Amino acid sequence: MILVTGASGNVGGQVLAQLHEDGIHARGMSRVPAGPWMVAGDLADLRSLEECLRGMDAVFLMWPFHTAEPMPALVKVLRKHVSRVVLLSSGAVQDELAPEQHDNHVGRSHAEVELLLRESGLAWTVLRPSTFAANALWWADQIRAGDTVAGPYGQVRMAMLHEADIAAVAVRALTEEGHDRRCHRLTGPQVLTQVEQVRVIGEALGRPLRWQELTREEARRRLLADGSFPDAFVDVLLDGYAKMLDEPPIELTDTVERVTGRPARTFRQWVLDHACEMLGG
Ligand SMILES: NC(=O)c1ccc[n+]([C@@H]2O[C@H](COP(=O)([O-])OP(=O)(O)OC[C@H]3O[C@@H](n4cnc5c(N)ncnc54)[C@H](OP(=O)(O)O)[C@@H]3O)[C@@H](O)[C@H]2O)c1
Repeated sequence: MILVTGASGNVGGQVLAQLHEDGIHARGMSRVPAGPWMVAGDLADLRSLEECLRGMDAVFLMWPFHTAEPMPALVKVLRKHVSRVVLLSSGAVQDELAPEQHDNHVGRSHAEVELLLRESGLAWTVLRPSTFAANALWWADQIRAGDTVAGPYGQVRMAMLHEADIAAVAVRALTEEGHDRRCHRLTGPQVLTQVEQVRVIGEALGRPLRWQELTREEARRRLLADGSFPDAFVDVLLDGYAKMLDEPPIELTDTVERVTGRPARTFRQWVLDHACEMLGG
């Protein structure tokens, strides 16, 4: 029996659905559970988590916090109930750096969580995904309103990854042998700038979309005004993009295909799968 945290989110929702498709018993955890197979639990409330963990063998752990602080106490609870954890971490984690050496906030907190899991005595697998294709939903309001997507750092390159592919690897790691003590670095099959992503979305939706470049300050003002991101996260996001501009080219991996037997889905496929959400239909 498997507990899937983050089951109301992009990746966890897919993990739960794919486990059920494979006929595997699994429960999804949410602070506001809705639908069958969902139970009420909060990673910030260990008593509620313990209730969810009763009778479970393994956990898909999605980390919703911007700090690793809750992890030591959480590990103690996990050790009482389960033997295996598959952690959704981040491609921002770099093997050659200790957690505190990561200059990027996201990489640092995920690296700390990974380290605590590796030292926990639990059987573990870590997934380090590249940028989620689902981030393109941040543009959905603009795409519904017109033919222009305005944003900063249009030349930033990303290997957009379909959540169904991350989930498919997670399902293998949760249910097959051979994934213990492994870090799976996952990417989509192609590298696209943000300008190119908008072009692909337009082509897939049959709309003449174009990118409008904003300066960092213009983007910062918009993000703070429209409330789409927590204020504390706006500079983290923009600093992350600025840094990505200077990074070495992204190395694509074949992990999705190696683990699941099918190639990673393209960004175009992701757009087609999410056309209704993009267009508000
Ligand atoms: N976006 C990217 O490009 C990217 C790339 C690499 C890694 N990541 C990592 O992927 C993770 C995000 O995954 P996602 O996109 O699947 O999530 P998501 O769609 O943003 O959903 C967030 C999930 O977190 C859950 N959650 C929030 N607070 C919680 C709490 N206190 N206890 C339990 N659950 C809580 C929510 O559940 P309820 O509200 O229902 O409780 C929801 O299911 C983050 O760790 C992020 O750093 C993201």
